[in-house]
Amino acid sequence: MTAHAFPRPSIPPRQRLIVALDVPGAEAARALVRELGDAVEFYKIGLELMASGCYFELLDWLLARDKRVFADLKFHDIPATVAAAVRQLAGRGASFVTVHGDRAIIEAAASQKGSLGILAVTVLTSIGREDLRDMGIAMEVEDLVLQRARISVAAGCDGLIASGLEAAALRTELGAGPCIVTPGVRAAGTDAVHDQKRVVTPARALAGGADYIVMGRPIRGAPSPRQAAEAVQSEIAATLQGIESSQQ
Ligand code: C5P
Repeated sequence: MTAHAFPRPSIPPRQRLIVALDVPGAEAARALVRELGDAVEFYKIGLELMASGCYFELLDWLLARDKRVFADLKFHDIPATVAAAVRQLAGRGASFVTVHGDRAIIEAAASQKGSLGILAVTVLTSIGREDLRDMGIAMEVEDLVLQRARISVAAGCDGLIASGLEAAALRTELGAGPCIVTPGVRAAGTDAVHDQKRVVTPARALAGGADYIVMGRPIRGAPSPRQAAEAVQSEIAATLQGIESSQQ
């Protein structure tokens, strides 16, 4: 079932779910984190919170509660500017930052990362084949993901953001080395894919080789976000057990 060894046993199973705190401000973020309690140990804070002005206050608040933080800021600029931004962020306590760029941009980011993990965005999970055509890119999504992933890994990134549809191909191509973080995850049988196009279930993402899954709206918008998160945690635990026993 898997194209690689048991997915990185060093990651505690409950840290494999990263919840996207795509909310308008610190109060809404804190309320959701309190509601989710110990069901969630890892949060992604991104552009909406950055623009709201409470970003670093919230990052410190999460770290003080022993939560891990993924800074999804998708840096994309000339290499010198990206290097400077990564240098500023490194040491603030986040585990990961996203960088969107070519070889020189990823190299610049990696050169300043300290203990911050650089995750290269391959192709956004909201982008499908027709969107690539619109951008003038005559490639299949998976081929472009693989090409961008190969270059990013060679340039020194620690991991990749990729949909669950491409995780297995990335593992086959790149082995166990790079960490794979997969957004665009939806529970089996759900119709609500929102603006995502390349979606998979938590089980499929992990079985394909993802180390972490990112989920936002399916948890935030659930009647009980905490129950929704616990259901995903159970699916993660069962999937990991299944992978482990299939390898024995
Ligand atoms: O609500 P949903 O589960 O679709 O949220 C997915 C999160 O992952 C969003 O915060 C989005 O910005 C992020 N993301 C993504 N696709 C990428 C990179 C990040 O959906 N390629």
